[in-house]
Amino acid sequence: MNLADTEIVLGILNKSGYSPTQAIDEADVVLLNTCSVREHAEEKIHQRLSVIRKRTSDKPELVVGVLGCMAERLRSNLMDRHNVDIVVGPDEYRKLPDLVDGALAGSQGIGVRLSRTETYDDIIPFRSEGISAWLSVMRGCDKFCTFCIVPFTRGRERSRTLISVVAEVEQLLEQGFREFTLLGQNVNSYMDNGRDFADLLSAVAGVDSKLRVRFTTSHPQDLSDKLIDSIASHDNLCKYIHLPVQSGSTRVLEAMNRTYTREHYLQLVRKIRARIPGVALSTDIISGFPTETENEHKETLSLMEEVRYDGAYMFKYSPREGTPAYRLGDDVPEEVKARRLGEIISLQQKVSGEVNQSLVGDSLEVMVDGPSKKSELQLSGRTDTNKTVVFQAGPYKPGDMVSVKIERATSATLFGKVGCSLN
Ligand code: 5AD
Ligand code: SF4
Repeated sequence: MNLADTEIVLGILNKSGYSPTQAIDEADVVLLNTCSVREHAEEKIHQRLSVIRKRTSDKPELVVGVLGCMAERLRSNLMDRHNVDIVVGPDEYRKLPDLVDGALAGSQGIGVRLSRTETYDDIIPFRSEGISAWLSVMRGCDKFCTFCIVPFTRGRERSRTLISVVAEVEQLLEQGFREFTLLGQNVNSYMDNGRDFADLLSAVAGVDSKLRVRFTTSHPQDLSDKLIDSIASHDNLCKYIHLPVQSGSTRVLEAMNRTYTREHYLQLVRKIRARIPGVALSTDIISGFPTETENEHKETLSLMEEVRYDGAYMFKYSPREGTPAYRLGDDVPEEVKARRLGEIISLQQKVSGEVNQSLVGDSLEVMVDGPSKKSELQLSGRTDTNKTVVFQAGPYKPGDMVSVKIERATSATLFGKVGCSLN
């Protein structure tokens, strides 16, 4: 989401004559786009701000700004603590050109009002070249999970128009993009004049059979049958769903205000698997939510064993001031949280390894991304289930479809040989 927002910010600034540089020493303005979801993410930004100010101490005229959720949450405190020039929350990026101009002329500026309507619908994001594009289709979140700061920093849910999303995809396709990820804190709440997220997905999939469509994130409560059917019935809607569970214990889920039970979640997983054969599932899990007992932690492990996720993002609970869970205290000791998280991570690694191992011998359709991270002699690409596949380089360019026969697998990567090009 922040990567997509940064592209929107660059789009806005670009229109006003600013252009990006990768070298901080060349910059007149440094903007950090920030996340508040866990304490650790915020600490990194505090450190980065100190480093930037130190490294550029010979350039006092350098404008430094903080964008995103930390700007929204900490507001003018950031100015006091780090001598920041501008502070702009997620709904006020249109003010950036004025605020940057003002800061270059020596005045501090702040914009942290949240909006019920801002979707940046008309802004053309400044994207780096490639085949994959992010499209933010809804913003904000009305779910109010008790641990989460996002509803407070990103405000209420609102959606872009379907027609503008489809038009953007058409344009990006012409520019060479092949894979489109529709983004929102909770995409299933998407609504544009009676057209829901399933309608949006079908419309985007209908633009061209050659493009690939992904989306994230889905809240299990509103993942509708209609949405499952859309995915099942379009070849170019990727068979991959990120479906955060957070905990395997119904009692903890209730304390988290997740609005579903363990049984409801498992039932949903069974339904998805029955209707979309071969679908890959990933999840988010929090360890050590306040009051979580050892048995409840074991329920999370047993749910993971039952679902057998392809992948998971796993976190220690981090208390966020202002959220309802904050008032519960943070009573699971740090070492217990860490040990539980360790157990969750090793179980997931084992399962991911087994799931990937079961694909050895299969021929999978892979969209080429580019050179692999480790060697120029190898290419890397992804399956529609979002698995990374590494194979011998050949006459293929990013966006090409190839069939790769899988020869070996780790918990993170599949390795294989190209059988044929599928273009
Ligand atoms: N502590 C730990 N993890 C959190 N997340 C959100 N808030 C917190 C928190 N306070 C995790 C959730 C969410 C993901 C984006 O971040 O798992 O799905
Ligand atoms: Fe946070 Fe819950 Fe909204 Fe996700 S659905 S952004 S975890 S409040």
